[in-house]
Parts: sequence; C-alpha cells; structure tokens
Amino acid sequence: MENTSPQARIAELTNLIDRYNYEYYMNDRSLVSDYEFDELLSELIGLERAYPDLAMPNSPTRRVGGEVNKTFNQVAHRFPMLSLGNTYSIEEIEEFEARTRRLLDGVPFTYTCELKYDGVAIGLTYRHGQLVQAVTRGNGAVGDDITANAVTIKTVPLRLTGSYPDDFEVRGEVVYPFEPFNEMNRQREAEGDEPFANPRNAASGSLKLQDSAECARRKLMFCAYFVMGPDEAITQLPPTHSGRLEAARQMGFKVLPYTAECRNITEIKAYIDHWDRERWNLPFGIDGIVIKVNQVPLWDRLGLTAKSPRWAIAYKFKAERVSTPLVSVSYQVGRTGVVTPVANLQPVHLGGTTVRRATLNNADFIEKTDIRNGDWLLIEKGGEIIPKVVGVDPDHRLPDAMPVQYADTCPECGTALVKADGEAGRYCPNADHCPPQIVGRLEHFASRKAMNLESLGPERLELLYLSGLVANVADLYDLTPAKLIGLGVDSSASIQEKGAAAIMAALDASRQVPFERVLFALGIRFVGEVGAKKLARYFGNIDALLAATPLELAMVEDVGEVTAAAVSDYFAKPEHIAIVNRLRAAGLQMSVVSQQVSSALEGKTFVVSGVFDGFSRDEIKAHIEQHGGRVSGSLSSKTTYLVAGDKMGPEKRKKAEKLGIPIISEAEYLALCSQTE
Ligand code: IVH
Repeated sequence: MENTSPQARIAELTNLIDRYNYEYYMNDRSLVSDYEFDELLSELIGLERAYPDLAMPNSPTRRVGGEVNKTFNQVAHRFPMLSLGNTYSIEEIEEFEARTRRLLDGVPFTYTCELKYDGVAIGLTYRHGQLVQAVTRGNGAVGDDITANAVTIKTVPLRLTGSYPDDFEVRGEVVYPFEPFNEMNRQREAEGDEPFANPRNAASGSLKLQDSAECARRKLMFCAYFVMGPDEAITQLPPTHSGRLEAARQMGFKVLPYTAECRNITEIKAYIDHWDRERWNLPFGIDGIVIKVNQVPLWDRLGLTAKSPRWAIAYKFKAERVSTPLVSVSYQVGRTGVVTPVANLQPVHLGGTTVRRATLNNADFIEKTDIRNGDWLLIEKGGEIIPKVVGVDPDHRLPDAMPVQYADTCPECGTALVKADGEAGRYCPNADHCPPQIVGRLEHFASRKAMNLESLGPERLELLYLSGLVANVADLYDLTPAKLIGLGVDSSASIQEKGAAAIMAALDASRQVPFERVLFALGIRFVGEVGAKKLARYFGNIDALLAATPLELAMVEDVGEVTAAAVSDYFAKPEHIAIVNRLRAAGLQMSVVSQQVSSALEGKTFVVSGVFDGFSRDEIKAHIEQHGGRVSGSLSSKTTYLVAGDKMGPEKRKKAEKLGIPIISEAEYLALCSQTE
C-alpha cells in the first residue's frame, strides 16, 4: 500500500466499499466483518479529507451523512409524478382488466403485478451513471430536493454499474422495514420522544430531517418500481416494464423479487389473494398491489386520465378487522400520573400477530365509542402496526349491557383519580407515593436526554425502588457500591461489582450535566427539553427560578401559562424543594453561569451555518455561549459574524454580504475565542 498513490488508493477503497455495501444491502451477504468495513471507510474518509480534490464523485463516504438541510429546495419534476387510480374492490379490478382488453382490441399483452409498498415515493435522477438528484413526489409537479438524505440510504445506488441510459430517472418507494422501525421507536420511547405512528410517517419524517447523519442512522430502504426518461435517452431499455425493472436491478437498484407476470384476471386475483394473506410475513409494510400493463409501447395507446395512467391500477387491501370479546379493562399509570385504560381481549389472530390488549385511550373514547361490559370489540390493523379499537361489534351487544365504569381510584395506589379541566384523561394525584409514577420519574431522570445514566435502565431502577433504596431521584446520589452489590440476585437486573462500579461512574459523570438538562430531568409536567433550556437560560440558576412568580415564568419564550403554572406548583411543594436541595448538595449543576469559560465573545452575536469539522452545530452554538457570545437563528443588522461551515447555502452568503456582515471560517472563529483568553 505504501507504493500506492493516494488517488489509486481512493479509487480502490471507493470501489471496494461500494461493492461491500452492494452485497450487504442488496444481497444480504457480508464479505467482510463490520470492523474491517469501518476501517476501510475511515481510511477513505481520512484520505478524502487530506486530498479533497481526489474524492470520487458520489463517494460512499456521502452515505454517512453530515450535510445539513436548512430548507428543502422545491424542484419541478421533469416528468410529472403521477399517482395511480386505486380501489378496494375486486369488481373494479375486473372492470379495469376488461376495459384494458377492450381498448387494446386484440393486441397481445400481459400484466405485471407487484407489491404496493407503503412508504414515500421519490424520483432519482442519474446522469452518466451518477446520482444527481433525489426528489419527493410533492404535489406531482413539484417536490422537495432531499438528495442529502437520500444518499444515506444504502439501497439508493450512488453510482450505477453495467450499462444504463445516460440521462434518466428511477422511481420507487422509500420504506422503513419493521425491524429497524420498531427498534427506533423503542429508543425514542426510552428517551421520552413521541414514537412514530407507523413506518410510513417515520420514513417521510426521516427524509425531511435537517441532519442527514440522523437519516443515515434510520435504516431506510429504497425499492425501485419504475424506470423512465426522455424517449431518446432510454431507447436501449427493454420494451417491457418487467424487463426494465430487471435492467434496473443490473444497474444496482433493489428490485424486489415478488413481481409476477399475469395473463388474465384469474391470475391477477390469485396474486392478490396470495399477498393479502402473505403480506404479514414481509419485513416491510405493503398496502396493496399494483397491476401494470407490461408492454411499454401500449401505454401511449391507453393514455392517461386527469391524474393517473390508464395502463395501471392499485388494489388496496382493506385494513384487517376482527371482533373479539372484551374480557376486562385495566389501567396503566404513567410518570405524570395520567391513567390510560387498556382493553384486555380474548386473544385473537390479526395480521400475523396475536392481539391480547389494545389501548382505549381515555375516558372520552370509552364514552364516545359506547363500550359496555360484555361487548365484543372491533379491532383493526391497517398501516399502523399497533392494533386499534375501532368500535363495538353490534352483533354481540347484550340487551342490558352496562357502560364500562371508568376507574375512580388509582389501580396502583388506591388514590381517587382527578379529571383535570379541559383534558380528556384522568390522573392519579398521588405523585409522591404511587409506585409507577415514582419509577417512571426515575426512568425519565436517567434517560439519555436527561441525566444519561446509561447503566440505570428501567429494570434496575425498579429493582432499586422495590428494594427500598431509592424512592426519589435524590436518593440515587446516596447510593454506594456496598448498598448496590448483591441486589436482585435472582433477576436479570442483578447488580454485581462491575455493575455497581458502572452505576457509580454514571452518577458521577452526571454531576457535569448542564443545568438545563437537570431541570428537564426533574420531570416537571409540560417542561420538555426546549422549555427547560429556555427557563434555565432565562433565569440562569435554580434560586432565581424558585423565586419566580407564575407571571415571570410565563414571560419566557415558549413557556405558556399552563407550563408556568405547572412549574410554580412543582416548586411550591416542600418535598420538591428538599429534592432540589439534595441534588444541589450532591454536586449537580444548578446554574448556567458555571458553563461560561470566557467572555471573549461578549457583546457579539453570531449566526452559524453549514457543516463544521470540529463541532456539530449544537456544539458550536454551545461553544459560542460558553465564551459569552449570543447565537441568533437569522441574519440581521445586529449580527456581528456569520460563521460559515462547509456547504453553507449561497442565499445566506448573499444576504450576509448585502448586510455587510463579516463571514468567518471555523478556524477564524476559534482564533476569535482565544484572543482574550
Ligand atoms: S407505479 C405511473 N408501483 O403508490 C406509475 N407505485 O398512487 C406510478 N407505490 O405514491 C406508480 N408501490 O409511490 C407504483 N410497485 C409500485 C408501487 C407504487 C407503491 C405508490 C407510489 C404512489 C402510489 C400510487
């Protein structure tokens, strides 16, 4: 390797990594270990940094992400992105088939039937075999340029292989396979983020992420279903749709193998029946099947309706629905005391899984749906993975069935439930002694975005609570290795020497967690990450915050009256003040001022834009504040400097120039910080 020129090594690594990626994501084949792969990738990243001019176009290092999308440019589709006529009715499929045959008037033809992927449609433009742009469907005429995020999807080829048209487009669907989707949702829940309702929403949200590195972590998949281009550019493509998909596969696209060529309605119906049953065994969601005339030259003869082609139609599966007896209603108590009713059902098979429980949301839902004791409930599973109660089965209503009586006491601690004004739910007000609320608060406190106590997962926290060692977050800081070792010997959460050391280390590290996160970690109702940050920055320290009146609290940006009242109520309780004081005594950060390392940037306002080498965007913002500077989101006459990273948009630059604001690089910025230090 010493004899290889950087240029040759870059080319070699690029090709090698492309091949390994291809085998892994297209063919499920690992040719090297993860470790070796990472080594090669970091070598390439290093070489490209050292020799930026030698990087090959569309290098696989782009897949790691890092580009920041401030806004998504709107771009016009070269060819409108049509949608399909769709139906839930087999009769309409029969009509489609008969009409197509009639219009084609004896010309021999076939259909391709394929899966209707339940995701987000995008179009990928390739020139000279290189991906140049990825655009969402948008309104069909104009979509969003999401190239920076699309390149992070491993099944979007960046460079094509074999032979391909010089200038063309491949369309398909970005889907979020169930396994990584569930994994991501589990993680979101653990971190206190709202989970996505279904893989489609998650795929769509992922493509619109500002941080493409985050998109790279979401394991999305692109399934190609359509190849097109200007007529003169695609003459080399086969004349059938199935042939074109096969050609796309040869070029490096993921074309799933579930397509079938059908000659008549009987075969089409058999395909539909097969996938209506088998769809639950797929690793990703489909919401129907698509039937297309296979012979491309016939498409012009069939033409278009207002918004969809006459040569294709989608058959959509009905959401699968079953009816099953309601056995009982139980109640779950969350961290904030909100009580959620859950239907315990007679186990029933639905869409590939057995359903035993389903949420009943809140008291209003039970009332509006008119759920009565002894009822059979209708359960549906559509695009959503989580089964939903959609109503009561009228065929099983007993003549004198009594409405379900909502619990009036907490199932966990027996306290009378309270219905807050304007809220559909009821909650248990016994915040300080109701076990699931206590453990829930401990979990929140330990979560990544709060104190990040990694070694204290839910099971261990429950163990600490049940063993009587920890009843509130302050108790965590009284733990010692001696108290911890040997706990829960028979459980999977058991704590030995190593575990105890890890817990102590995590607690110790949490003493450096900034005040805003400590405030968030307290779990005050309605105070999320952003609210905590705003409150911390506004008041500067815990004493000022404790002394604030509701009116003063409500003056803070993003803190409304409801939150202000919740904060005020929280600190009005002596037991909460006691916890705060114990946390303070334990050494947790209780002010933001201690964060400031210098006043080098005092009086200066910065706008940051683009991607930086040594910082993430949040880090550089925090760094500015630590040196006494201010960060603003937009350029104005008050801006002192625009700190420009890589790939800053041209608009920003123009605006700064127009306002006469100096544009400085990351290095110049750092020099500025150290001037007076
Ligand atoms: S063909 C003109 N094939 O379904 C042909 N579409 O309205 C255009 N979809 O949002 C589409 N799987 O994204 C085609 N195998 C498939 C598909 C498919 C899913 C989506 C497509 C569009 C909708 C059709």
